Amino acid sequence: MPWYTEEQIEEVRAANDIVGVIGSYVKLKRSGGSYTGLCPFHNEKTPSFSVNPARQIYKCFGCGAGGSVITFVMEYENYTFPEALETLAERAGITLKADETDRQHKEQESIRMKLLEINRKAGSFYYAVLKSAQGKTGYSYLKSRGLSDETIRHFGLGYAGQGSMNLYRFLKHEGYSDDILKETGLFKIDERGAYDKFFNRVIFPIMDANSRVIGFGGRVMGDAKPKYLNSPETKLFDKSRNLFGLNYAKLGKNKNMVLCEGYMDVIALHQAGFTNAVASLGTALTIQQAGMIKRYTDEVLLTYDSDQAGQKAALRAIPILRQSGINARIIHMEPYKDPDEFIKGAGADGFRDRMDNAENSFFFETGIARKEYDVSDPEQNTKFYHAIAKILLGFEDKVQRENYLEAAAAKYSLRRDDLKSLVVRYGTSMAGNTGAAIIQRNARAKNKKEDQGINYSYKLLLSLIIERPGLYKQIKDIVHAGDYFGEPYSEVARMLYRQLDAGEVVPARIINHFSEADVQNTVADMFQTGFAAELGDGELEKALNELVVRIKEYSIDKRTRELTDMNELKSLIQEKKALQTPAKLHIYLKDG
Ligand code: UTP
Ligand code: MN
Repeated sequence: MPWYTEEQIEEVRAANDIVGVIGSYVKLKRSGGSYTGLCPFHNEKTPSFSVNPARQIYKCFGCGAGGSVITFVMEYENYTFPEALETLAERAGITLKADETDRQHKEQESIRMKLLEINRKAGSFYYAVLKSAQGKTGYSYLKSRGLSDETIRHFGLGYAGQGSMNLYRFLKHEGYSDDILKETGLFKIDERGAYDKFFNRVIFPIMDANSRVIGFGGRVMGDAKPKYLNSPETKLFDKSRNLFGLNYAKLGKNKNMVLCEGYMDVIALHQAGFTNAVASLGTALTIQQAGMIKRYTDEVLLTYDSDQAGQKAALRAIPILRQSGINARIIHMEPYKDPDEFIKGAGADGFRDRMDNAENSFFFETGIARKEYDVSDPEQNTKFYHAIAKILLGFEDKVQRENYLEAAAAKYSLRRDDLKSLVVRYGTSMAGNTGAAIIQRNARAKNKKEDQGINYSYKLLLSLIIERPGLYKQIKDIVHAGDYFGEPYSEVARMLYRQLDAGEVVPARIINHFSEADVQNTVADMFQTGFAAELGDGELEKALNELVVRIKEYSIDKRTRELTDMNELKSLIQEKKALQTPAKLHIYLKDG
C-alpha cells in the first residue's frame, strides 16, 4: 500500500517527465511518437526499449520490463516505491510529507528488522553447534556428503542439536519476547511451553538475494520422514519469491543460470565451481522467481531430477520461463538422479559437457509430446498437431513463434499451414484454456479453480478498452467496474473506468497506484499489448464478445454464490437471463 497519498504520488509523477528521467540513465533516440534505446534491464545490442511520452510509460519488448517513471527508478536503482518516489520528488524540488499510514509502515518495518536479526542469530547458533563437540553427528553427516569446511562456512550450514529447546533458550537469553519468536516460525509455542521446530537435523539457512537469512531448511540424517523440514511462510519468507543460492549466483559473470531442485544440488554445484546454480527448493517454479532470474540473465539451464516428477517439473517450468522472456535449455542427468549425484559420479568436467549439450526446451517439450502419440494413427496424429500448436502459443514474440513453427514442421514433417492455422485458432479463441492462459493457470496453481484463466480475460479486456477507447461506452453498459475481482484487475478497472468517464486516461497514474514493481509491470503490460492490432476486425469482434460474456458470467456466478440478500437474487437472475439473449448485449466494432 502506498505510504503517500495518491495526490502526492501523482504530483511527483507529473513533475518528472519520463523521457527526461530515463534519458538521464539511458541514451534515447526519437523515433516517431516515441523514444527508443538499449534496455538497461537486460543485455541487448539492438534497441527494444521504448518510452512513450504521451502515455508517460516505458516498455521493453525484449524482457518485458515496463511501467511508469517511478517503476523505472525502482527497478534501475533497486529502490522500494517510497524510496523511488522520494528520489523523484527531490529531483523535482517537491517536499513530501508522509501521511499517517507511514507510522504503521514503520512498525511493520521494525518487525521485519527484528526478524532478520533473530534469523541471523539463529543461523550463527546452528553453525556454532555444528562446529562444537555436540555437533559431531551433523558435521560428519555433511562431511559424508562430500562438503568441504569452506563450503559449510560459505553456505552457513549448521546443526540443531538433540535437545528440543536449545535455540529457544538461547534466544530468550538474548532477550526476545515470545510474541516476536512466534513470528519467526522457528518454534512451536503453546500453553504447555515452547519447542524448537528443528532438532537433530542439519540446517540449511535460506538467504535472500542480499544474503540475509530469511528461513531455514533442516534435513534428517537418516531415512526418517519428512526428509526436509522448512520454515513456514513468515513476514520475511515468501517461498514463491525466493531462490536458494541466488545471493551467490547473481554475483557471477556467467551468461546463464543453472536451475535445479534441491539444497544439496545447489551446494554441490557451487562447490564444483558452478556458482550460477539456484534452486526453487522442491516447489513448482513461480512467475515471481522467473522474474528474479530475468534480472540477471535470459538463459536458464534446467537440471531437474531425472525421474518422472523431475520431467513434469521441467515441463511446468519451461512455459513460465518463456513467458518471462527466458530461454531454457535442459541438462539431462541420466544415469544419475540429480546434480549432486551427477557431480559425485561424473565430476565437474562431466557436468560441463552436459551443459554444452543442453537441449533446447522447445524440442524437449515437443519430443515428449511426440512420444505420447502414435502418429501413424490419424486420430493421434491430429492430437499431436494440437499439442505442438499449444506449445507454440507460449511464445509471445511473433517472430520467435514463427521460427519455432518452421522448425517443428521440418523436424516432425508436419504440414506447416495446418499447424499455423491451428495456432491462430487457439490464439484467438481464448477459451481460457490455451497458451498464456495455461501458463497463468500453472502460475496460480494454488488459487481456487474458478479463478483460473479469469485474470487473463480481465487483462485482455482491459487492454482492449485501452487500445480502443471508442468501445468503452458499449462495454461499460455490460461489464461494470464492479464486475472485476481480485487485484490488480479490480483496482485497475475502477481507475480506468473513472478516467474514461472523465475523458482523460493517465496510464502512469494507474500504474503508480501499485507499489510492487512486478505488479506495476503487469499493469503496464495492459497498456502495451497491441492485441487488437494483431487481430482482424471480424476476429476482434468475436473475441471481444466472448470476453465480455465470460467476465460477466464469472461476475454473476461469483455474486450469486456470495449472496446474502434475497432481493438481489432476482436482479442477478435477470442479469443472467440477459446474457443468454446475446443479440441484446452484442458489442459492435463499427461504433468503436
Ligand atoms: P529431493 O527429494 O530431490 O531431495 O527434494 P534432494 O535435494 O536430492 O536431497 P538429498 O540429496 O536427499 O539430501 C528436492 C528438494 O525438495 C525439497 C527440498 O528443498 C529438497 O532439497 N523437499 C524435499 C522438502 O522441502 N521436503 C522434503 O521432505 C523433501
Ligand atoms: Mn539429492
